[in-house]
Amino acid sequence: MKTISSISQFREWRKGITESVGFVPTMGAFHEGHLSLVQKSNETCNHTVVSIYVNPKQFAPGEDLIHYPRTLDEDLKKLDSFTVDAVFLPNNEVMYPDGFSTKVNEEILSNFLEGNSRPSFFQGVTTVVAKLFNIIQPSHAFFGEKDAQQLAIINRMVTDLNFPIEIISCPLIREENGLAMSSRNVYLSNDEKEVAAHINLALEDGKSQLYSGQRDPQIIRNIISNHISEQQLLKIDYVSVADANSLTEITESISGDILVSVAVYLGDTRLIDNFSYSPSSNK
Ligand code: PAF
Repeated sequence: MKTISSISQFREWRKGITESVGFVPTMGAFHEGHLSLVQKSNETCNHTVVSIYVNPKQFAPGEDLIHYPRTLDEDLKKLDSFTVDAVFLPNNEVMYPDGFSTKVNEEILSNFLEGNSRPSFFQGVTTVVAKLFNIIQPSHAFFGEKDAQQLAIINRMVTDLNFPIEIISCPLIREENGLAMSSRNVYLSNDEKEVAAHINLALEDGKSQLYSGQRDPQIIRNIISNHISEQQLLKIDYVSVADANSLTEITESISGDILVSVAVYLGDTRLIDNFSYSPSSNK
């Protein structure tokens, strides 16, 4: 496993590779979710490249950029259990040298849900992912369904900007108590993790209503909100029942594929979770 920090060295290494290259972009602080993406890349592609870079452009002032967990040594050790050809580890000067002044902006899907609460977040994500795609030049790239909106926006960007890359989505991975895995879970104590597990339990309540035939989106939102609100430590940012493709809120009876998603604060820690549902297959 080669670690490479400069773009020129990466391009030199990449030159010799003609077979499929799977790419797993990350901000490090690996958990089972990240490793499942690496595993999927190993199963899908001849080569796997992982990037670790905490991208400052996707943090707003006052967010947790400074405190974001950085665990490079442990991360590299975790990758030893997989076949990873190269780890790309750029710094800010490499990614955003003096004079950098270009942004990649998806203009529709980015306005809803996370984008509504974190206005420049997705612009930061699409800018860095577009740069990474140009540097790594993967044939496939792997993203988790935990960040469902990010996945939708990356798919849109790849289509709109004609990146010759197949985007592979991978299932959300949960802790034993059901809490969606996230690098930010390290901010939580064990007691707080038990409280945070109610986010998934609330989504499960909504899901079982959908399976039983409930089609009123507001009833689903209320069921989820009421469950979360029972936990005094949890503060809801949004509970959404949205069209799975447009990400706009459903106002009429649910008839097509939907994304049910939530963002909740526990203290300063922002937690997101979601599930998809299709009435046509009732799953
Ligand atoms: O999902 C993440 O970890 C980040 O948003 C990504 C895709 C690595 C871009 O910085």
